[in-house]
Amino acid sequence: MSFNLRNRSFLKLIDFSKRDLTYILDLARDLKRAKYAGTEVQLLKGKNIALIFEKASTRTRCAFEVAAYDQGANVTYLDPVGSHMGKKESVKDTARVLGRMYDAIEYRGSGQKIVEELAKYAGVPVFNGLTDEFHPTQMCADIMTMREYMPQPWHDFKYAFVGDARSNMGNSLMIAGCLMGMDVRIGAPRHLWPDGKLLEYARELENTNKGKLTLTEDPREAVDGVQFIHTDVWVSMGEPDEVWKERIELLKPYQVDSELMAASGNSRVRFMHCLPAFHNLETQVGREIYEKFGVDSLEVTEEVFESTAGIQFEQAENRVHSIKALLVATLGSQ
Ligand code: CP
Ligand code: NVA
Repeated sequence: MSFNLRNRSFLKLIDFSKRDLTYILDLARDLKRAKYAGTEVQLLKGKNIALIFEKASTRTRCAFEVAAYDQGANVTYLDPVGSHMGKKESVKDTARVLGRMYDAIEYRGSGQKIVEELAKYAGVPVFNGLTDEFHPTQMCADIMTMREYMPQPWHDFKYAFVGDARSNMGNSLMIAGCLMGMDVRIGAPRHLWPDGKLLEYARELENTNKGKLTLTEDPREAVDGVQFIHTDVWVSMGEPDEVWKERIELLKPYQVDSELMAASGNSRVRFMHCLPAFHNLETQVGREIYEKFGVDSLEVTEEVFESTAGIQFEQAENRVHSIKALLVATLGSQ
């Protein structure tokens, strides 16, 4: 057990060092194997964890719940309308209440400032389950999944993110690669590049950790020679519907289709997506977009999504193992 992670919050990826993250990822791999082997030991018995979701979720909520139950902990789910937080009770007061009842708090919502405020006053570890700016627990699953395909050292990893690069996923994947010393490429229209201050910070991490960060408006240049191509939805939760039109026009050239996969020049290139994804007309939003704009897939084509290159469901499963590692490392008993 790594002592230095005990009682730590995880609000953004850079709250943890490269060594901390490597430890979490090693632990996640051990816990995954133990679960499959039926040898898992419960280290979170008697712990209570509050799960605050001010936005919808399938994976993050389920991963936190399953990880907690597997390890013997209890959870309380607070849905987007079911608590007073932010309406009748300030974040600061809610933090001080929940901190007296729970051993840890997970928060998904809008501004990063909210999760930072919760952590400041709760007195117990707080985990960011997605904000407008960052999605750090997703990064643990993403790196874990890439590592399952690449036993090589971190500096041999090359991946691209194409799409809305100033979203929580674009920001997080840029920072993740720079922190781990990887070769990371961002392919997006300049208008959707990460914010200048975050980019400056990413450049510092790139230098310190000897990574390589490339930002380009050319999606083919972004994917050239990579082992993994990541994308995400073009309009994130909390954004108004009015942005769809502009976003589709801007991002159409960045759709991950078989041509873009081939442009990697790597026949073993893998497709990754944090999910949910718009790849066909089997969703309500997908059908509405089709009615309005006549496109039947958005950030990824059905062909790529359903191809053997797609490892997005392994990525989804790894949310459980990596979140479990986070809980065990920060809250687990010796
Ligand atoms: N990837 C992810 O965070 O999925 P959910 O929105 O379903 O939690
Ligand atoms: N960028 C997406 C990620 C969903 C997991 C969103 O914020 O909606």
